[in-house]
Amino acid sequence: MERKFITDTSGKTITCRAAIAWKTGSTLAIEEVQVDPPKAREVRIKMISTGICGTDDHAVKGLLSVNFPFIPGHEGAGIVESIGEGVSSVKPGDKVLTLAIPQCRECSSCLHPKGNFCEKQDVLPSSGLMLDKTSRFTCKGKKIYHSFRASTFTEYTVVPEIAVAKIDAAAPMDKVSIISCEVSTGYGAAVNSAKVTRGSTCVVFGLGGVGSAIVMGCKASGASRIIGVDINEEKFPRARALGVTDCLNPRNLKKPVQQVVMEMTRVGVDFAFEAIGLSDTMIAAWDSCHRSYGVCLIVGVASSNSQLSLNAPDIISGRTLKGVCLGDYKTRDCIPQLVTDYLQNKINIDPLITHQLPFDQLHKAFELYHAGKTIRCILLF
Ligand code: APR
Ligand code: ZN
Repeated sequence: MERKFITDTSGKTITCRAAIAWKTGSTLAIEEVQVDPPKAREVRIKMISTGICGTDDHAVKGLLSVNFPFIPGHEGAGIVESIGEGVSSVKPGDKVLTLAIPQCRECSSCLHPKGNFCEKQDVLPSSGLMLDKTSRFTCKGKKIYHSFRASTFTEYTVVPEIAVAKIDAAAPMDKVSIISCEVSTGYGAAVNSAKVTRGSTCVVFGLGGVGSAIVMGCKASGASRIIGVDINEEKFPRARALGVTDCLNPRNLKKPVQQVVMEMTRVGVDFAFEAIGLSDTMIAAWDSCHRSYGVCLIVGVASSNSQLSLNAPDIISGRTLKGVCLGDYKTRDCIPQLVTDYLQNKINIDPLITHQLPFDQLHKAFELYHAGKTIRCILLF
């Protein structure tokens, strides 16, 4: 059945449903859109599921620099519907994840053994256009922008081949979408980027989807103490179940949270993670670290034009401040392995998924997200 469907639509414009953010802060509207066929080195994907990430919410609210109107979403799992000329890494019918950070394998970041922030990325800044500077989406005759080389809140999307990862054919597509961002970002920040050590102390600021995945990574790495910080105490029971040993609500403390962490650990933590995207919590994470060997990882995406102000003399003592996106993984090379690890029970992503709703209940999903009820809500197409 599926194969017939693939050949029926290949090369043609597809009309389907998608969520559009028409202007800053407006409620997403589910509209009928036209999705053009993929051009050379592009892939058209039939979406199966997508997670709702904090970054999507920030983008819709206009906190990041994006072009409106656009189709949000970047944490997606789907099946290749058709491919443009010259595409060799995937074919129609393949199961794939969308990648907010591509891997072109040609730029300075891709060629360096450490970097993963491919020069072909479209997050900082975000043009909302394909690599040829045009869009594949139209609605009511208007050009609609893409987001972050992905746009997953749509039944069909078009992305560059360099932003697609082919995954194991056995992958459960209603779940693995979160591996494309939440899991690689959070779990990867702990196990791959920080390389959290056995017996170490950690603090995680923000116990949402990304923070919870960081906690999982700290626990898997053998951290002996994991302090979780969040202003929403409803997040605490799940965080404890994932491995958090101490929960702190900064709003209920008489002192700044970093001072409390310092007193709890006497010397500061080995590893601090910020998974909220606020300058204040980034500073608190930095100030929670051991002065000499502590490592502070910034995982949250800060709003555009915000600044970070640190006490300059404190920097000399040896602490490390490191930014990390998608766990420092070279995305196409490494993210499929996380799917295989999940299939082989080496990691368990299930506790990160608290809700699954059909795509047309997108508004309910955002309500639950805004009410702080979700770790991850997955939309199913
Ligand atoms: N102090 C402590 N916790 C806070 C604060 C604060 N000032 N503000 C918000 N939080 C908590 C929220 O209660 C929530 O539990 O941070 C958590 C954020 O989680 P989510 O909204 O689920 O977002 P998530 O998808 O985890 O993304 C977190 O990482 O990828 C980035 O852009 C993304 O910056 C965002 C961050
Ligand atoms: Zn690159």
